[in-house]
Amino acid sequence: MCGIIGYVSERDCCGALFEALRRLEYRGYDSAGIAVLGEGGFRVCKKRGGVAGLASFYAEGKTGIGHTRWATHGAPSDQNAHPHIAGKIALVHNGIIENHAALRAELEGEGVRFLSETDSEVLAALVQKYYRGDLLAALREALSRVEGSYAVAVIAEDRPGELAAARYKSPLVAGKGRAGLFVCSDIPAVAQEAEYLAVAGDREFIRIAGGEIGFFDGGLRPVPKVFFRPEGESRAAAVCGSHMRAEIAEIPRALQDTLAALGKADLAPCARALRSAGRVFAVACGTAYHSALAFRDALARDAGVPVFCYSAGEFRYSPPLVRAGDLVVAVSQSGETADTLEAVRLARGLGGFVIAVTNTPGSSLAAEADFTLAMRAGAEIAVAATKSYNCQLLSLWYLAAELLFFRTQRYPSWFSSLKELPAAAEAAFSLFPEADRLADLFKERQGMYFLGRGEDVCTAREGALKVKEIARVFAEGLPAGELKHGPLALVEEGFPVILLSTQRRLAAKCENAAAEVNARGGYTVLLSQYEDVLRQSRARAALRLPVLPEPLMPCVAVIPLQYFAYKMCLERGLDPDRPKNLAKSVTVE
Ligand code: AGP
Repeated sequence: MCGIIGYVSERDCCGALFEALRRLEYRGYDSAGIAVLGEGGFRVCKKRGGVAGLASFYAEGKTGIGHTRWATHGAPSDQNAHPHIAGKIALVHNGIIENHAALRAELEGEGVRFLSETDSEVLAALVQKYYRGDLLAALREALSRVEGSYAVAVIAEDRPGELAAARYKSPLVAGKGRAGLFVCSDIPAVAQEAEYLAVAGDREFIRIAGGEIGFFDGGLRPVPKVFFRPEGESRAAAVCGSHMRAEIAEIPRALQDTLAALGKADLAPCARALRSAGRVFAVACGTAYHSALAFRDALARDAGVPVFCYSAGEFRYSPPLVRAGDLVVAVSQSGETADTLEAVRLARGLGGFVIAVTNTPGSSLAAEADFTLAMRAGAEIAVAATKSYNCQLLSLWYLAAELLFFRTQRYPSWFSSLKELPAAAEAAFSLFPEADRLADLFKERQGMYFLGRGEDVCTAREGALKVKEIARVFAEGLPAGELKHGPLALVEEGFPVILLSTQRRLAAKCENAAAEVNARGGYTVLLSQYEDVLRQSRARAALRLPVLPEPLMPCVAVIPLQYFAYKMCLERGLDPDRPKNLAKSVTVE
């Protein structure tokens, strides 16, 4: 969604704002803008398109705000870009003001003239309406009129050296960096320069003034905060040319770090929760949902425990299923996905015990869960989730194994092989040249299928999601058994079908699917770790995966598919770090 940044510096802040926006750009790249408060008032530059459009802008001033936009209300345009100026107020906002129409009508009735179609400009005008020299009080009063979600930062023309900010359901942090005191939407955007920072809670306010950062509750009473030093972002992107490629390259290291962190985690509270749990749920969105499917498979197979796995956006609107004591595992790389957070709030409200599996320990999800299992994938900047997926699988399997141990006093047979995942992931890189060839072969295709059975279904779905979002090619991931119930109708000469067959008990069934596709002229690509399965198959191309215990194969089988999607994207002349219409962190419903 949108990214916001605000600085109060001891020197000119324009450069620091621009650099932070470049790092925040993965949150939205429809338009970008900066407002700097200097001697003569605000100097503003805002433009449709990416942050690069602001590169030639410079203004003197030590207080400023910036924004990179993922459009919701109003098309991407110069006028709709933030910051919005209303009288003495400049404002940047991430979120949605749901009652903006009524507020706009009210303000227009009072003579306010709006320049944009955005809900955010309404909020700027509202702050101006209540501003009488106390910026924080004006922001609080304005937000008391607002329904919706927000991370918002405001500065006032007559208050240099001061900034007020607030959040509700959209992430916001504040801290000290080399360039001064800041507020920002995301930790990774400021991680490299932050000396320390703290995360704002929902309905909390922040004031930066007099060289200090203060956090306040809804009544503007001070809230004590634990400040911490964040981990720096990987510099590998500079070497690899894109964040997505760098993050694929980081998978072995991310798995290694996550293994080390898991080894130190005390999961006893989770095990205790399972003891009293009537049922187990898993909720997540997108890629994280696919890892939740793998968790479901593991607990069902090894512990005979059924897991009700829900897309978080469905869960929150389903009949209230959770009962007191039920275990709810919520998976989210960012820990800020709106649907997942709402699902967690709902589950906790019904008495569920929530375990968060997240890559962001300082996130809202971690703050709201009963227990957090923090994986250590490192900052993931590319919109396409790659290394976080591998680490989610690892973390969820680890959790499943611990829960199994608690029930039966024995670990599953594959548990000791989790430590082999980093090396196996690295071995999977040897498949990239073949993936290059396939990307070249399929680059003009309009659609493709990814099929699998059993434990391979999550990989099929994830492969298809990657191709859709990054290569912008229609792709569907399906259980192979579904093929003849409809999807086969689209298979014609050369239609690509990527078939995963890593589970020996299901190999013959997968081969049936290959035969059905081949009979219609489709181009089948088979992925398996088994030499004989590959040799005996009628598939037209074969990728031999590294060997691991079958339950762990999803973690390596997905790697050539992640890379394939990336390569398809390049072949089609697209930017892998900027998939169309998407943003990294989906903080609105
Ligand atoms: C995956 O490539 C996507 N960018 C997306 O599906 C993502 O996994 C989803 O939005 C959930 O994000 P989260 O893990 O941060 O909650």
